[in-house]
Amino acid sequence: MKPMDFRNQWVLVTGASSGLGKEMAEQLAVVHGANLVVSARRADKLEALKADLEKRAGVKVEVVAADMCKLEDVDRLIDRVTGERPIYGAVLNAGVTHFGDYHELAWEDFQRLLHTNVTSVVRMTTRLLPYLQKQGEGGGVMIVSSMGGLQPVPYQTVYSASKAFLINFGCGLFHELEGKNVSVTTYAPGGIATDMTAGNRFDGLRGWLAPVDDVAREGLSAFRQRKYLHVPGLMYRVGAVLTRMLPQQIVTGRVASEYRKALAKAKGAPS
Ligand SMILES: NC(=O)c1ccc[n+]([C@@H]2O[C@H](COP(=O)([O-])OP(=O)(O)OC[C@H]3O[C@@H](n4cnc5c(N)ncnc54)[C@H](OP(=O)(O)O)[C@@H]3O)[C@@H](O)[C@H]2O)c1
Repeated sequence: MKPMDFRNQWVLVTGASSGLGKEMAEQLAVVHGANLVVSARRADKLEALKADLEKRAGVKVEVVAADMCKLEDVDRLIDRVTGERPIYGAVLNAGVTHFGDYHELAWEDFQRLLHTNVTSVVRMTTRLLPYLQKQGEGGGVMIVSSMGGLQPVPYQTVYSASKAFLINFGCGLFHELEGKNVSVTTYAPGGIATDMTAGNRFDGLRGWLAPVDDVAREGLSAFRQRKYLHVPGLMYRVGAVLTRMLPQQIVTGRVASEYRKALAKAKGAPS
């Protein structure tokens, strides 16, 4: 398949009210000339983004406020993007984490994490792919997972498990779609400086966080080139390869030790 070309096409970005989604929406509009459907719960942030991008990039932007924990909202979003215009691409980016001891995560918060990170993505992908295939324009979907999905991440255990699901899901679909004129790319960034990592629990890990504009640029490039699974940044790619070569228990133990120190530092306790 030839690379994707977003110019004058409509692209959906979920989780566009902040962080990586907002940055990818901006770059899609300003650099790639794409029209956008932007979605998240905070409609005020999306409206501000729409005003900014319509003025700055001369593209059309539509806002759909939706909670990815609510199936009716997920379906309303997909009805909207498949019903009113020929959508060409979707960046399924909305996500939440939990960083702390496993027992701190309340059952309701676990369910919200699972709905946002996993269930909504499966629902949207399952509805979008047949639509894109029928359109016959060579469209695609990018699923935003995380390097945390490549191996267990203690203290982000549930998050890491949800992102592992997305890697297996996206990479499995990549092969199911061979010869069908539609692509799925799975994106697996390491740490990024966004609202997700703004809390003091991440203070001890801040040196590992990449600038969001770089991560957005590399993600859109991977999406455009229809890559299979992409980890942005040379240092992180080398890390991902080493992780696969070394015994998992040793690597995971090392991560556990660093994260334990970061959490202890945030609590002001000795590690
Ligand atoms: N930051 C990192 O270190 C890192 C590393 C690897 C991968 N990632 C992944 O990158 C993606 C973006 O994260 P980020 O770092 O940019 O975090 P962020 O700044 O906190 O952005 C998260 C986005 O998801 C949306 N969202 C959260 N819950 C939602 C819900 N129930 N319904 C609809 N939208 C919801 C938020 O919008 P509203 O609050 O307005 O709804 C926001 O736009 C996530 O999938 C994350 O797992 C992040």
